[in-house]
Amino acid sequence: MNASSIAQLSVNAGLLLPLCMLLTSTALHAATETPALSAATGTGVSFHPPGEHMIPEGKFGDMIRMGRDIMLDTPKHAAPFVGNTLSCANCHLDAGRMAGSSPLWAAYVSYPAYRAKNDKINTYQQRLQGCFRFSMNGSAPPLGDPVLVALEAYSFWLATGLPVGKEAAGRGYPDIDKPAQSPDFKRGQTVYAARCALCHGADGAGQKAAGRVVFPPLWGENAFNWGAGMASFNNAAAFIYANMPYGMSYSLTPQEAWDVAYFMDAQERPQDPRWLGSVAATRTKFHDTPYSLYGQTIQGRILGNSGAPKRPPNESEAHIAP
Ligand code: HEC
Ligand code: HEC
Repeated sequence: MNASSIAQLSVNAGLLLPLCMLLTSTALHAATETPALSAATGTGVSFHPPGEHMIPEGKFGDMIRMGRDIMLDTPKHAAPFVGNTLSCANCHLDAGRMAGSSPLWAAYVSYPAYRAKNDKINTYQQRLQGCFRFSMNGSAPPLGDPVLVALEAYSFWLATGLPVGKEAAGRGYPDIDKPAQSPDFKRGQTVYAARCALCHGADGAGQKAAGRVVFPPLWGENAFNWGAGMASFNNAAAFIYANMPYGMSYSLTPQEAWDVAYFMDAQERPQDPRWLGSVAATRTKFHDTPYSLYGQTIQGRILGNSGAPKRPPNESEAHIAP
């Protein structure tokens, strides 16, 4: 997506997007050094990853460029491992550069690390495997696969000059205040209609223009699956507060961000690939947190009750950490 495709889309749809959004999207997708409007506001971040023009020549540079391309168009550049229409950069904005949207440079220096999700020390490549399985609703590339090596090379390069061994400012998402009132489906629905549906669609399916995803899906068959980080509404609230509506960071109140995150995560999406044969068993083992709505009854429906995963994990995944 670029400014002209957004402009085209908004013309087609008869919508008027504020100019700042067009400018921001240009900045984001050109993967520039200083995005016009940034989720970094208030995070005390002083680190800037190197600019595109600093990518070295030769094999290392080729790997870095491949990693960047995978981030920006994952279904095209990592096709065998992707089961939806998302790209990594839909959630890791500005091709993984933007502080406050889980930037890759801050992630890179934080691994190997223990993860409660699988009760193991995970290397960076193992962490990336999880992104493919859950956020991309696909399958994990084998360790050492060029797709993982390219993403690792790109992340390593983005982190040039960043100190290791301490948490980088700007990692993950900025803290969001706890909501004054418990997150609520109906209030979230109202926020969604007013602030999100324009781009992501009333049905959450996103929008395509000329065969390309311009606004990514939030739920439904082409979205992240139930095992993804974004399916926990605390993560989603923090992401949304700092990054959505697109180009309008921090324009929702924390309460609105929690409500709309709850609403988004109370919609159907692809089954958790760790499926244990029933919603109840899968909830007990993998979703026993207040922030997962999997297996909960909301609006009279049991969420996640769609049967076994449509895309069974491939055999090479039998040995990887869940
Ligand atoms: C639907 C949104 C979404 C998509 C798509 C997505 N991610 Fe993520 N990613 C997240 C969330 C949310 C987290 C943090 C939450 C968690 O740890 O579970 C995360 C965490 C990460 C981390 C660890 C960050 C850290 O600081 O520890 C890395 C690295 C990462 N993602 C890379 C990728 C790559 C590479 C892709 C594409 C193959 C990808 N992600 C696709 C949402 C997404
Ligand atoms: C102006 C259009 C626009 C509006 C309004 C908007 N978004 Fe987005 N949203 C985007 C775009 C574009 C991306 C992908 C960003 C990228 O690729 O750089 C995105 C990405 C996302 C993602 C991560 C990717 C995914 O599909 O899972 C979530 C979650 C999200 N938006 C939620 C929301 C919510 C909730 C609202 C309302 C509060 C909202 N958005 C409002 C354009 C918009």
